Amino acid sequence: MKLTGLVGWRGMVGSVLMQRMQEENDFAHIEPVFFTTSNVGGKAPAYTKNETVLKDAFDIDELKKCEIIITCQGGDYTGEVYPKLRAAGWNGYWIDAASRLRMDDDSVIVLDPVNANVIKDGLTAGIRNFVGGNCTVSCMLMGLGGLFEQDLVEWMSTMTYQAASGGGAQHMRELLGQFGLIHAEVAANLNDPASAILEIDRLVLQKQQGMTEEETRQFGGVPLAGNLIPWIDTDLGNGMSREEWKGKAETNKILGRSSAADIIPVDGLCIRIGAMRCHSQALTIKLKKAVPMDEVNDIIAGYNEWVKVIPNNREASMRELTPAAVTGRLDIPVGRLRKMEMGESYLSAFTVGDQLLWGAAEPLRRMLCMIMA
Ligand code: HSE
Repeated sequence: MKLTGLVGWRGMVGSVLMQRMQEENDFAHIEPVFFTTSNVGGKAPAYTKNETVLKDAFDIDELKKCEIIITCQGGDYTGEVYPKLRAAGWNGYWIDAASRLRMDDDSVIVLDPVNANVIKDGLTAGIRNFVGGNCTVSCMLMGLGGLFEQDLVEWMSTMTYQAASGGGAQHMRELLGQFGLIHAEVAANLNDPASAILEIDRLVLQKQQGMTEEETRQFGGVPLAGNLIPWIDTDLGNGMSREEWKGKAETNKILGRSSAADIIPVDGLCIRIGAMRCHSQALTIKLKKAVPMDEVNDIIAGYNEWVKVIPNNREASMRELTPAAVTGRLDIPVGRLRKMEMGESYLSAFTVGDQLLWGAAEPLRRMLCMIMA
C-alpha cells in the first residue's frame, strides 16, 4: 500500500475530503500518514493504520517518505513546502487543492469525469503534480461537459452566483453573523404586523451601511448579507478579476486545448452572493450549429452519472435548481435550457454545484484512486 501523506485534512475542504474518503472506503487502499502545522505529536485520526501520531507538515524528511501527498492546506503552504520537497529529490505524486501550481506546465488540472484522457496522458508522460480546478469551472464542466465533448461550443458566457464558502470557512461564519445582526436590528418591527415595511427597510440599510470593520472583515469591508459583491479575487488591472480570468484559462487547460486554434473563449462576470456552499452560474452558450433542443438535452444528460437535466419549467426550476436543493449532493443539475431570442444557435442554461464536493474535494480523492488503480 502506498504511503500517503495528508495535509490540511482538518480545514473545511480537508474535512469534506476526509468524509468522502471514508464514505468511499478509500482508506482501505492506502497507508495514511497525517501531517499537521499546529499539533505535532498529537493523536492521528482513527483511520490511521501504523502511523498513530501527527507528523510535522514542514518536515521535508518525513514528507519525502510518502509516495503520494494530498494537501488542502492552501497556497501559502504549497508555495513554501513544495519547492523544497522537489529540490530534495522527491519524485512522488503531489495532489493539491490550492491554485498555486494549477497553470504550471508540469501540472494537470484534475476532473476525471471530464478529462480522464488528459490525466492518463499526464501520468504516462511522467507528470507528478495533479491540482484541483477552480470550483466554478469544475462545476460548470461537470454539467455542460457533453457540449464540449461534442465540440459544439463556439463560446460561452458565464455569469456566476458564488457562495460564501468559496472564500473559506470564516466567510461563511461572517455571512451568518451579518444575517443575525440585521435580523436583530428589525426583530421587534417584524413581530409587529402593523409595522411599516419601509421603516424595516431603512433600519436594514442603516445596519448594512453601518457595519464595523470587524463585522465585514472577510468580505473586504462590505456586507454580503442582503447584498451581493460583483468582484471575486484580485483585480488584474484590465477590468477583469482573477476569478473571471480562470474561466477561459482553466476550462481549456482541463480539456487539453492548448493551441490558439483550439482555445474556446469562456468569459463572464463572477459575483459573490449570500449562499452558503453552492456556486450557481447562468450561461449563454453560442453553439457552432443549431442543434435541436431534444438533442441538446440528451447530450447534456448523457455526459456523466451526476449531471441531471431539470425540465425548464417554473416548478422544477424552483425546487431542484437551487443551492438549498443541491448542497451536500454530488448531483450537478442543469436547467433553464432553451434557445434564446438571439437565434437558434444561442442556448441558455443554469447550473448549480456544491463547491466543496465537485468544486474541491471530490476530484482530489478520485485522482488518488486513479493513481492507486
Ligand atoms: N475562487 C473560488 C471562490 C473558490 O472564491 O468562490 C473555489 O475555487
